[in-house]
Amino acid sequence: MIKRIGLLTSGGDSPGMNACIRAVVRTALYHQIEVVGFLRGYDGLIDNQFCILNHKEVSGIINKGGTILKTARSERFRTTEGLKQAVTTIQQHALDGMIVIGGDGSFRGAIELAKHSDIAVLGCAGTIDNDLVGTDFTIGYDTAINTAVDAIDKIRDTAESHDRVFIIEMMGRDAGLIALRSAIAGGAEALLIPELNNDLGDLIEKIKGWRHNKGSRIIVVSEGDEVGGAYKLAETIKPYCAGLDVKVSILGHIQRGGAPTCMERVNASIVGYHAVLELMSGKRGCMVGIINRQVALTPFENAVKHIERIDPVLEKLIKVLSH
Ligand code: F6P
Repeated sequence: MIKRIGLLTSGGDSPGMNACIRAVVRTALYHQIEVVGFLRGYDGLIDNQFCILNHKEVSGIINKGGTILKTARSERFRTTEGLKQAVTTIQQHALDGMIVIGGDGSFRGAIELAKHSDIAVLGCAGTIDNDLVGTDFTIGYDTAINTAVDAIDKIRDTAESHDRVFIIEMMGRDAGLIALRSAIAGGAEALLIPELNNDLGDLIEKIKGWRHNKGSRIIVVSEGDEVGGAYKLAETIKPYCAGLDVKVSILGHIQRGGAPTCMERVNASIVGYHAVLELMSGKRGCMVGIINRQVALTPFENAVKHIERIDPVLEKLIKVLSH
């Protein structure tokens, strides 16, 4: 019997986390389950910083970016002392279950929490990077790529007016998935991401073949690409650009903020709702995701596996459509 659950957001915030919090709380209350929200991720669990979440606390948040529970990347939770303290907090609140909204680091934390306590832990995939196995779109990804495409469109206007080459750097510590989709949607002339090999060599060959009378050139690079960032890339390609101005724009944390898209709000609501139902039915140790419009559970250990390969259809698209 699940009577009281804990809820926290951890790692980098992402748009849609609030919609997910709201869905968890409203579903739990609907089933007479109490929800204890911990503040600033695992740090709040260690320090017993919490609030009881009722209807009022989650009203008017579905359209808001960020997370009302705040978030952190907790270094203390990686220590034996921190983990012990977190388990004590769980016991003090007599929690029957715990829902963690976050990315791979947060789920590695969830694995440890489950190992060192007897609590049932489930996760909702929340990260703009979309780098988790077991869901088509993580919470935050759709909004982030729309923000990125909007930025490409705006930069295109000025690039076109000045006949300039622009290198736009997208977030994604280890993954190039924001860069990939936004490059396709923004009509970029080239893309560099960690999942594609020899993309710098290909880019230089491509630049040599450019007809230099075309107005603008947009090159999208992921922060995680081995080329080492947009500024370094600009220096590398300048000699091949036939005197064209090469400018750099690093989008940075703007990709993490803003109102979640419609799709984001709906997906986050589905995932939050199901996380509570799955806890009630006895599931534990899994991330709740959506694959092909079906809710899917993936063990945390598999969810955090690094995605090495991108969708071959998208890889082909970027090659053919940008040539
Ligand atoms: O949350 C994911 C992410 O935005 C990555 O894309 C990025 O590399 C990282 O977080 C930045 O983290 P922070 O805001 O802690 O510097």
